[in-house]
Amino acid sequence: MPRILIIRIAWFYLCGLALTALISAAQNNTNTNTTAPVTTITKGANITKSPGCQRQCGNLTVPYPFGVGPGSGCAIGTWFEITCNTSFNPPKPFIGQLEIYDISDSQIRISNVMAKKCYSQSGALVQDNTAWTNLGTTPYSFSELNKFTVIGCDDFALITGSEGLNFTSGCVSLCSKAEDVPDGYCSGIGCCQTSIPRGLKYYFASLSSLKNHTTVSSFDPCSYAFLGEQDRFIFRGASDFSDPNFMQRTLATVPIVLDWALGNLSCSAAQKANDYACKANSDCVDSETGFGGYRCSCNPGYEGNPYVSPGCQDINECADPNNNPCERICINTPGAYNCSCPGGYYGDGKKDGRGCIANNKELPVIKLSLGLGFGFLSLLVGITWLYFGIKKRKLIKLRENFFQQNGGLLLKQQLSSNGGGVESTKVFTAEELEKATNKYADDRILGRGGYGTVYKGILPDKRIVAIKKSRIMDESQIEQFINEMVILTQVNHRNVVKLLGCCLEAEVPLLVYEYVSSGTLFHHIQNSAMTWLSWEDRLRIAAEAAGALSYLHSAASKPVIHRDVKSANILLDEYYTAKISDFGASRLVPLDQTQVTTLVQGTLGYLDPEYFHTSQLTEKSDVYSFGVVLAELLTGKKPLCMERSQKERNLAKYFLMSMKENRLFQILEPRVVREGSLEQLQAAGELVKRCLYLSGVDRPTMKEVAMELEGLRKFTLRHPWANQHGHEESMGLMTENEASDLYTVPMSPYSDTVPLSGQYSSDTARVMFPANSPR
Ligand SMILES: *[C@@H]1O[C@H](CO)[C@@H](O)[C@H](O)[C@H]1NC(C)=O
Ligand SMILES: *[C@@H]1O[C@H](CO)[C@@H](O)[C@H](O)[C@H]1NC(C)=O
Ligand SMILES: *[C@@H]1O[C@H](CO)[C@@H](O)[C@H](O)[C@H]1NC(C)=O
Ligand SMILES: *[C@@H]1O[C@H](CO)[C@@H](O)[C@H](O)[C@H]1NC(C)=O
Ligand SMILES: *[C@@H]1O[C@H](CO)[C@@H](O)[C@H](O)[C@H]1NC(C)=O
Ligand SMILES: *[C@@H]1O[C@H](CO)[C@@H](O)[C@H](O)[C@H]1NC(C)=O
Ligand SMILES: *[C@@H]1O[C@H](CO)[C@@H](O)[C@H](O)[C@H]1NC(C)=O
Ligand SMILES: *[C@@H]1O[C@H](CO)[C@@H](O)[C@H](O)[C@H]1NC(C)=O
Ligand SMILES: *[C@@H]1O[C@H](CO)[C@@H](O)[C@H](O)[C@H]1NC(C)=O
Repeated sequence: MPRILIIRIAWFYLCGLALTALISAAQNNTNTNTTAPVTTITKGANITKSPGCQRQCGNLTVPYPFGVGPGSGCAIGTWFEITCNTSFNPPKPFIGQLEIYDISDSQIRISNVMAKKCYSQSGALVQDNTAWTNLGTTPYSFSELNKFTVIGCDDFALITGSEGLNFTSGCVSLCSKAEDVPDGYCSGIGCCQTSIPRGLKYYFASLSSLKNHTTVSSFDPCSYAFLGEQDRFIFRGASDFSDPNFMQRTLATVPIVLDWALGNLSCSAAQKANDYACKANSDCVDSETGFGGYRCSCNPGYEGNPYVSPGCQDINECADPNNNPCERICINTPGAYNCSCPGGYYGDGKKDGRGCIANNKELPVIKLSLGLGFGFLSLLVGITWLYFGIKKRKLIKLRENFFQQNGGLLLKQQLSSNGGGVESTKVFTAEELEKATNKYADDRILGRGGYGTVYKGILPDKRIVAIKKSRIMDESQIEQFINEMVILTQVNHRNVVKLLGCCLEAEVPLLVYEYVSSGTLFHHIQNSAMTWLSWEDRLRIAAEAAGALSYLHSAASKPVIHRDVKSANILLDEYYTAKISDFGASRLVPLDQTQVTTLVQGTLGYLDPEYFHTSQLTEKSDVYSFGVVLAELLTGKKPLCMERSQKERNLAKYFLMSMKENRLFQILEPRVVREGSLEQLQAAGELVKRCLYLSGVDRPTMKEVAMELEGLRKFTLRHPWANQHGHEESMGLMTENEASDLYTVPMSPYSDTVPLSGQYSSDTARVMFPANSPR
């Protein structure tokens, strides 16, 4: 127990570490992004070159190196002179022709222009505006925050640039219906965007149309192209096409962003020059445009305009509690701050650190260790409690999930829609079945089949049951399981295996059946030393199975087609009474229908060829399969055997051929020939032949088959000598094989079902089937 506890604590500790790292990483991320765009150039008391310079033009604050007024000497150079046009109210600032919206540490935002082309319905050009902006030899260049954007449904546009670098790019914007155009983002449908290289100083935008908007004129007569700040532009989908104010609105809200820098020298060169602009507490930053030039940037912990003496000012972090994490005392230092604690306290004084802790001079060590001890103890208790709580909740949740995933809802729905049957079916818990099978021990395995394992289980009331556990669960198998449950809860017949209950809480659903002790009919037929399997027993088993199938076809509340009748699905109990099992593939047939179309499913050798070719499932498919079982009972041969010659490989075909050639008695099992009368065997052979008719309508119904078999049985009972005779004959062989019959042999009552959907794998048995099928 203590070791487990330690492991748990270690686990929690590790989780905690990982979490802390995650949180701090996230904090780092947000911090870097929020600090990046802050503008400090307009902060501080002195931002203009001299007190006499105009600080403001309209709403725009003009910091040095920019300055208002041509010839005022307030700017660092001609290209930083801002003309304030007072004929507007409020006055508007311009550099050259370009209106300035905003000045930040590294960028300015300016007014925009837009290219526009409009077409008439016939495709004639009715409006044609071009757009270009030339920054010439100014210290400005277009920022990468801009995108070249084209709006329209039949358009492509080129942006060509020069002045230092030659550049051409463009994008195509197409659409055929207004409904196709997504609202809110540029996807290439109705709106496309392309980026521009850093350092561009001139661009020209030209719009072209593929079909002069003739195909889209009903909703999009015009197209637009512009360069502008990507984050400020919001595309409103097709409504932008018909909005007469689109151009005006966009020009007012989407500026062009320009990068600015001083001169054409790099920092290292500029620092040596006389006119180096960066004042105290600031640093030089090289321009990234590729043309040289630099900017100044305040050192961390400082703010203000780095171009104006006396340079950047220390930020007093202590003035605003939001700017510092100090708990008690904050001492501002140049570029930083110190947190400390008053006398009588110790600690780092930070809210996110250790804070300030009172010095307690009396027995601080004992107090500390006592506190630590208690803290640790309560931590342990808390963690353990938490751990078990979480584990329990997880388990419950898991079971609920399994219940749903395993079709619990589907089952409930099916059962309620079918009514009744529910009370006879018990829902077992996962623990009950785990206990009953001794945790699914290997020595409890009764058989392994195509899609599951059958375990022997002993319930608390000492009842022995068979528990079928699916191997893997996919949706289709869940359906099969639920199907089997629903059918079995509706069927109550002494020759049909009884379903006792189910469990849906486990990872795979489990079905609980009555325990049928003597294995499968297939096993008994193939083991020719089965002394009990006399002609009379064979007839009885055939009659019982036929009776059960007839009941399923007609007497059950809704007709059931078994779909996978075969000797391996007929189980024998301790008195060798036949019990039909495995309803995984079965179908409930709606009362008003006699056939249903399904994916062909069944077992090779038993599969009704008519069903195989048409996919039309009728109850006569079961008759065919039963005919093969009957042939097996008569001949003792396997329905499909690769060791036999080509002609004899398929038992159904072989049997019919032998009947036709009057060689029936040559293929019957010797014991059957000895014990049965000529008339009986002839009649049984004829019955098989009729069951195997290629056309379903020619086959007898299961009821007729059952009645005929009952008739044959009565005939036998009148000649008890035949039975006794057989017993005497084979008595000598009995003892050594008798024991091996009782469940040391693996049985697989739920196996071999091969779903066929017209695709054959390389498995020879499957490839060969169509060639061997009776035609
Ligand atoms: C936070 O960012 C800095 C610089 O960007 C980096 O050096 C540091 O490793 C980052 N810290 C974490 C926890 O990611
Ligand atoms: C931070 O900003 C950069 C560009 O400045 C951007 O690419 C990134 O996605 C941003 N990160 C977050 C978390 O916003
Ligand atoms: C900065 O402004 C203060 C007043 O706010 C003034 O006393 C000082 O002279 C100014 N410094 C310069 C260099 O203009
Ligand atoms: C200018 O400032 C005034 C008030 O400060 C504001 O109402 C107005 O919208 C601003 N104009 C612009 C173009 O930002
Ligand atoms: C101010 O703007 C008006 C209107 O655009 C223009 O006519 C005038 O010449 C401008 N004044 C100056 C000084 O640029
Ligand atoms: C741009 O193109 C012109 C004419 O084609 C050429 O003379 C010039 O060298 C080019 N400039 C660059 C930077 O490639
Ligand atoms: C589009 O119009 C131009 C002239 O405006 C004309 O030369 C061109 O052939 C037209 N194209 C189509 C596809 O109509
Ligand atoms: C840098 O600018 C100066 C004038 O400001 C000019 O004389 C010089 O030619 C420029 N140098 C380069 C490499 O452009
Ligand atoms: C700030 O704290 C550091 C370390 O605690 C110390 O070295 C430094 O002298 C302190 N500065 C001031 C101004 O108190």
